[in-house]
Amino acid sequence: MLFRKAVATDIPQLIKFRKILLCHEDDSSMDETFRNYFDSSLSDKSLLVWVADDDGIAVSTVCFCLCRLAPRFENPSGVVAYMTNVFTIPSYRRQGIVSKLVSEAIDDLKTQGIRKILLHSSDMAKPLYERFGFVEGKNYLSINI
Ligand SMILES: CC(C)(COP(=O)(O)OP(=O)(O)OC[C@H]1O[C@@H](n2cnc3c(N)ncnc32)[C@H](O)[C@@H]1OP(=O)(O)O)[C@@H](O)C(=O)NCCC(=O)NCCS
Repeated sequence: MLFRKAVATDIPQLIKFRKILLCHEDDSSMDETFRNYFDSSLSDKSLLVWVADDDGIAVSTVCFCLCRLAPRFENPSGVVAYMTNVFTIPSYRRQGIVSKLVSEAIDDLKTQGIRKILLHSSDMAKPLYERFGFVEGKNYLSINI
């Protein structure tokens, strides 16, 4: 298994994983929108994607949307990484693949001066994130507008 950053040729697989996660596996109506998103955000580096590659095919992925906020004392770069699209193909699960991807990605984010990662978790993934030290935040609010 090779753990590496995603490149443009991984985009079809990233779209497939995204649609499974959104429970729209057989819906191709947004494919072009997803393709444009992954293509442009990988190119401008606003999205960092790690994949586990088994013989040339991405079998697992972890994505980080990088967002530049105002600098804080504990995070002078101001850049916050929002972790999303965390997925492993069912037959590859519980072999430590996502754990390894998250670990590699965190090391890489640190070298870029990024000191904060946010995420929304599924119930399934919560214990995994807690092992890395993620804790539930207080005073988080949102609205769909
Ligand atoms: C959650 C997920 C990404 C984990 O990927 P993975 O490569 O299997 O991850 P790892 O092997 O590194 O870690 C597995 C850990 O996830 C948790 N987990 C995964 N599947 C689980 C299950 N069916 N029941 C309970 N815990 C589970 C456990 O903490 C497990 O650790 P353990 O095997 O030591 O008990 C994968 O199960 C998946 O794609 N699930 C569906 C999508 C999803 O929920 N994504 C997360 C969105 S926040």
